[in-house]
Formats: sequence, C-alpha cells, structure tokens
Amino acid sequence: MAWFSNNSTASAAGAATVSATPVETTADVPAEMPVLIAPETTSANPTSSSSFSDKINSTIRGPNNDSFLAGIMDSNPYFAAGFGLMGLGAGLALLRQGLMRGSSMLYRQMLVDLEIASKDKSYAWFLEWMSQYPKRSSRHLSMQTSFKQHDNGSITTTFNLVPGPGKHLIRYKGAFMLVNRERSGRLMDLTSGTPFETITLTTLYRDRHLFADLLHEAQQKAMKQQEGKTVIYTSYGPEWRPFGQPRRRRELQSVILDRGVKETLLDDIRDFLKSGKWYYDRGIPYRRGYLLYGPPGSGKSSVIQALAGELEYNICILNLSEQTLTDDRLNHLMNHVPERSILLLEDIDSAFNERKQTEEQGYMSGVTFSGLLNALDGVASADERIIFMTTNHPEKLDPALIRPGRVDFKQCIDNASEYQVREMFLRFYEGKEEECDRFLAEIYKLECTVSTAQLQGLFVYNKMNPEGAIKMVPFLKIQ
Ligand SMILES: Nc1ncnc2c1ncn2[C@@H]1O[C@H](COP(=O)(O)OP(=O)(O)OP(=O)(O)O)[C@@H](O)[C@H]1O
Ligand SMILES: [Mg+2]
Repeated sequence: MAWFSNNSTASAAGAATVSATPVETTADVPAEMPVLIAPETTSANPTSSSSFSDKINSTIRGPNNDSFLAGIMDSNPYFAAGFGLMGLGAGLALLRQGLMRGSSMLYRQMLVDLEIASKDKSYAWFLEWMSQYPKRSSRHLSMQTSFKQHDNGSITTTFNLVPGPGKHLIRYKGAFMLVNRERSGRLMDLTSGTPFETITLTTLYRDRHLFADLLHEAQQKAMKQQEGKTVIYTSYGPEWRPFGQPRRRRELQSVILDRGVKETLLDDIRDFLKSGKWYYDRGIPYRRGYLLYGPPGSGKSSVIQALAGELEYNICILNLSEQTLTDDRLNHLMNHVPERSILLLEDIDSAFNERKQTEEQGYMSGVTFSGLLNALDGVASADERIIFMTTNHPEKLDPALIRPGRVDFKQCIDNASEYQVREMFLRFYEGKEEECDRFLAEIYKLECTVSTAQLQGLFVYNKMNPEGAIKMVPFLKIQ
C-alpha cells in the first residue's frame, strides 16, 4: 500500500508549501485509499478548515464510520500482529532506557565510589586489611605469602588469603560495601611485570565517611607491623621497594664507636632536621651529606642503621655498581626517596675509582661520574634529605664528589681504639673488669690495630668464656 497522494498539486507542492484550496480533488481518491495531505498551516479562508478536516476524516474512515487503521487490522491479522510487536518492542526499549537512566540517577544520588589504584600505597594496606577482616564474603581469593623474621633470626611463613579479582561484599561499621578488584587486561606495570589493578569500593552516599575510617584503620595496621622496625628499600626499576621484611631497629648503644663519635653524628643530624626554615630562608637546598670512611668492619654500616633506628627513619640503599643503573634512573631515584628515609650509597669508591672518575661510565654500571655529581646536586625536595656515603678508600675519591654541598660532614670510623676494645669486652662479658685489663694487654702485644668486627667475631666464638677470648687474641694478627 502506497502512502502517497495521487493529487498532483499536493505532491508537487510538497509539505512545505500548502495550497490555499487544498483538497479539490479528494473526490477522485478511492474511498479505500489513504491520502497524505499537507497540514493546513496557512489557510486563506478560516471557515474552510473545518470542512477540510471533515474531508480528511471521511477519507481515513471506512464507509461505516470505522477507523481506517482498525479496518486494516481487522482484515489483515499479519499486519495487526506486526504492528503489535512493533509497539511492544518500542515500549520495551523505552522502558529499558528509562530504567537505565533511572538506575544511573539513583546510583549517582545514593551510592558513592572510591577507587584505589595498585600504584597507590593504600592499595597494599587495604588488601592486607581485608585479608584479616572477618565480616566479608569473598569467593575469589588470591594467595599472598609473607615471611616474618623473628629476633632470633628464624623465619615463619604466613599465607594470607587476600581478595582476588572480582566482587566481594563486606560489612564495615554496619554499612555494606561492595569491593570490586579489577585487573587491567592490557596495561602492565613494566617494573614489576604485573598488570595494573584497581579496587573500587562502593557504598551508600550517607556512609561515605566510612571510607576514610577504613583506610585509616588499614594504614594503622600496616604501620603497626613496622613499629620499632627499620624498612630497608632497594631500587627496583625506577622505584623504591621494601627489601625483605622490616628489620628490628638496631640500638645505638650496640654500636661502639670511639668516644663521642656517635653523639656528634646524632647531634648533627638532629640539628639539621630542626633547621628546615633556616635553609629555606637562605635558599640553600635542604639536604645534608655525610661521608663515613675507614677500614672494613669498623661499624660504618652498623652506625647508619642504628642512627636510622634512633631517628625512626628508614634506609634506601642504592648500589652504584648495579649494571642496569643509568644516569636518568639514578637521578629519578635520588629525587623520589620515600619520606623519612636516609639515602645510603655504600662503597662509593667501588663504582668509580680514581682512574674512572671521568665522563666515562662507572666500572660496572651505566652511571657516569658526572651523572652521579648531578644527581647529588639535584637532590632537593620539600622534605629533608639525608645522604650517607661510605668508603674504605677516601683517598681514591674525586675531590668533586666530596666537596661541601655534596658531603657536608666527614667522619673517620677507624679500627678499634682502647676505649672501644674495653667497651666491647665489657658488653660481651659484663663486669669482668680484671679479664678486660688482661685482654687489653694482649691486644697491645699485637702491635697493630684490630677492627671491631674482628673483636665481635672473637667474642661470639667465645661466648661466656672471657679466658678463651684472651687466649685467642694472637690469632687476630693472622686474620
Ligand atoms: N663499632 C662496632 N660496634 C659494634 N659492632 C660492630 C662495630 N663494628 C663492626 N661491628 C660488627 O661487625 C660487623 C660488620 O660491621 P659493619 O658492616 O658495620 O662494618 P663496615 O664498617 O660497614 O664494613 P665495610 O667497610 O666492610 O662495609 C657487624 O656485624 C657489626 O655488628
Ligand atoms: Mg659497610
């Protein structure tokens, strides 16, 4: 059936231009044929409008005054069914759209989301928190194995079942929260080789304040595990990662240096940490470099650990001899040290000895000497920066490396002095003053100095046996 007019005037004029005498030829149209007639928007004669609509009505109605459409539907069941289905489909589509709009509006109004990306620190805290949270329903779990080193050195392994990728429901302080852990299929963290992940927490809008409580709780829990411990960070690609489990803080009195050395170092750092404003006011980069030099086993690394423990700082160890280390990475790492951390460059001479301190790359690594100097100069940030360097051969160091600004405080940590020998002996053999004197006399007979590490070895070998230690002193010379 063609839904067009056979009226030449109407079809030629189209819908836009309406004839003043619109339907002159309606009589020619068969009664059963519908006619498309342009709407009467501009009529020259207002009285003619009623007759016009009457004519239309008479055209689309059957002879018995029935609706023309109704007539077709009555006579053609296929048409009726198709039309019905079309109506139903359109109705359902509208309903679906309405529901979707309604639900998204409801979602926006009533629910609130919080997204935590795997790059964020709170990501690990949250997973750890959730693995121990009792009120949760999780069907997808992931394994997270962790080691715990005890004070006596033994290790216990614990297996944590953390929520795996998928949806989980938890009830926190009476509110339901939906936890959705999603893994990005394509994006990979190239430094760790793991896919990027996000955790989305969803809860009712009125309970949104609980997010802050929850994350605070998770952070406190994580911090508690580190309480009284020193975290050692090492570089991993362009970022710092904790190396093993946090270590028990080393007591400052367990490191025996010559009279007043520890105290001078500690006072200097404390004074530096208090003087932030002084530095800013004078436009001086807020950092301080320390160089500890001396023979092997004299306690350089130990005292840095003990100082970090005393100040409640962590330690970031950078190995300049690492083959994959480049100038860019070094610069980046040095400028992105985790907060409250001491940056430690051990054996600074081994990466660059005197002959190599040129524009060339280091002995093993890809870092150039000038790259190191620039990185040291560039270390500036809003937070304070404490850099410790150690070496056994200060004479091999290029003066440019240890000039003020890069190294502000130099301290020799030498072999054991008489004071140190006495202190160490009495620390291992409490109250044995008389034995201590004899031990010292034996040490004098050696006519050479010994390192504190050697003394420690001797005392550990002769635990609870000061006489054995005295007898074995001559062996120290052979070592
Ligand atoms: N002054 C000291 N007081 C207490 N222990 C010490 C002291 N010196 C060394 N030790 C002990 O000797 C061992 C080695 O010490 P440490 O690693 O601190 O020496 P180092 O000076 O850093 O040596 P290197 O130059 O070879 O790196 C540690 O177990 C440490 O406990
Ligand atoms: Mg050392």
